[in-house]
Amino acid sequence: MNLDPSSSRAAGSPTTSPVFLDTGLPLFGNAGFKVRDLTPATVAFGRKELDLALWEMPGLQALREEFGAAQPLAGARIMGSLHMTIQTGVLIETLTHLGADVRWVSCNIFSTQDHAAAATVAGPRGTAQKPEGVPVFAWKGETLAEYWWCTLQALLWPDGTGPTLIVDDGGDATLLIHLGVEFEQRGETPDPKKGENEEHSIILALLAQVRAERGANFWRPFAAGVRGVSEETTTGVHRLIQRTEQGTLLFPAINVNDSVTKSKFDNLYGCRHSLVDAIMRATDVLLSGKKCLVAGYGDVGKGSAQSLRNQQARVAVTEVDPICALQACMSGHDVITVEDALNQGFDVYVTATGNKDILTARHMSQMKHNAIVCNIGHFDNEIDMAGLEEMRRNGEVEKIEIKPQVHEWRFTKTSHGPNGAPHSVIVLAEGRLVNLGCATGHPSLVMSASFTNQTLAQLDLQQNAEAYGKSVRVLPKHLDEKVARLHLHKFGANLTALSGDQAAYIGVPLDGPFKADAYRY
Ligand SMILES: NC(=O)c1ccc[n+]([C@@H]2O[C@H](COP(=O)([O-])OP(=O)(O)OC[C@H]3O[C@@H](n4cnc5c(N)ncnc54)[C@H](O)[C@@H]3O)[C@@H](O)[C@H]2O)c1
Repeated sequence: MNLDPSSSRAAGSPTTSPVFLDTGLPLFGNAGFKVRDLTPATVAFGRKELDLALWEMPGLQALREEFGAAQPLAGARIMGSLHMTIQTGVLIETLTHLGADVRWVSCNIFSTQDHAAAATVAGPRGTAQKPEGVPVFAWKGETLAEYWWCTLQALLWPDGTGPTLIVDDGGDATLLIHLGVEFEQRGETPDPKKGENEEHSIILALLAQVRAERGANFWRPFAAGVRGVSEETTTGVHRLIQRTEQGTLLFPAINVNDSVTKSKFDNLYGCRHSLVDAIMRATDVLLSGKKCLVAGYGDVGKGSAQSLRNQQARVAVTEVDPICALQACMSGHDVITVEDALNQGFDVYVTATGNKDILTARHMSQMKHNAIVCNIGHFDNEIDMAGLEEMRRNGEVEKIEIKPQVHEWRFTKTSHGPNGAPHSVIVLAEGRLVNLGCATGHPSLVMSASFTNQTLAQLDLQQNAEAYGKSVRVLPKHLDEKVARLHLHKFGANLTALSGDQAAYIGVPLDGPFKADAYRY
């Protein structure tokens, strides 16, 4: 890691805590923050982009105006694990505007925008020399060990306490706390050698070091201080629901993803914007006329298919769910299997399932020369990156960096490349979220809807967490409608008002909610 030493400031006393794995960073070092580049130019660039983004985020502006004076988040310690982008910077500063004490980390090793991290650390009133913002632990291109080090730092307040509330995206912060508690409850010391994969071994190593340094009763009191979590994405919500089914969820959760104004907007319209943005920034390849496969036709898959089709690509879909498959047919897509796509020589493969093992290393060994492979789902196991690494160790494929987050994987034993030579595939963002690894995620206006839901969820938890028990719930529909309402003026929309007679005729209140909970939009 090559971080400017000035980018990390010690907020507490010097430490004797051992470093964590090969990070060179002490686990309990009390670092004030850690970002790549806290130079005045980077801070100024980030601040300008934060100001521009705020104008495109009317929902967050409105919540600042509505709640700023009352300071409803005063007393809340909020830890966030969510892509440290410019739009997230606006969310963070909205939470602090409402009174919260916030610490932040990215939820993906490639998704940080370094100028966003720098400006958020400096804060609206601080400078590079005298930062007064929020402690952020994030930089683009972390190693996995650095990523988990960052996650722990964001969880630890300098006074030794932890968060009262969490904003999670994919559930990694929630996972770390739950695993820590479970090992303590079983009286078991985590053993990195028992990791199911590289990342799991790193998590176990971190938990083992926490136990060695802080003893066998660190996580239980820590978890008891967490009043609730609001979860951003489909994959994180799946994890939470599995925990409620197993009875292991430790604190209440709000499922932000399934607010209509999140999943039917961010997942759909966000990906419609950011998928081709990422492929083009990464490869500059022409998409028109190309055969593209989208695996999974849920919200993200629908947005991804639209994104590619808007470039006049020929888009086919794979699905396991007959309803989604039928939707794809009705939208004019062929529904095929990955094997069909391989036989037909597809040019681009995008995974959007939230499932694992969608594109295996064997699949990639059969793709046409220079096929582009990327994932827009949450984790890096939709594309079998571990299998490719295994083939690399066996000398069956070479990895060549074209530029960061763009790699040619050149197979050594195939013969369907140019003139009977081996072929290559181009893998983007090392199999991780391509729109955040190779581009800058979704545009501000879409993220405004998502993050207005996040802020409302944090306000709800701050007021009501204990009443919710250890459950996963969505925000009520009137708040979903409020989020939409706060964004309509940006489009010059002129909403029709129901008459009293009309409201009575269709059986809805005059001011909403306008739909029953079962309505699917
Ligand atoms: N990149 C982003 O910006 C972004 C934004 C939101 C969500 N996500 C992530 O994207 C993923 C998908 O989210 P979503 O909201 O679309 O979920 P979803 O449940 O709406 O859609 C997933 C679809 O994949 C299908 N599927 C599952 N296994 C499959 C298989 N083996 N082959 C083919 N199809 C399969 C499911 O039937 C489903 O229709 C999740 O991991 C989510 O966290 C990413």
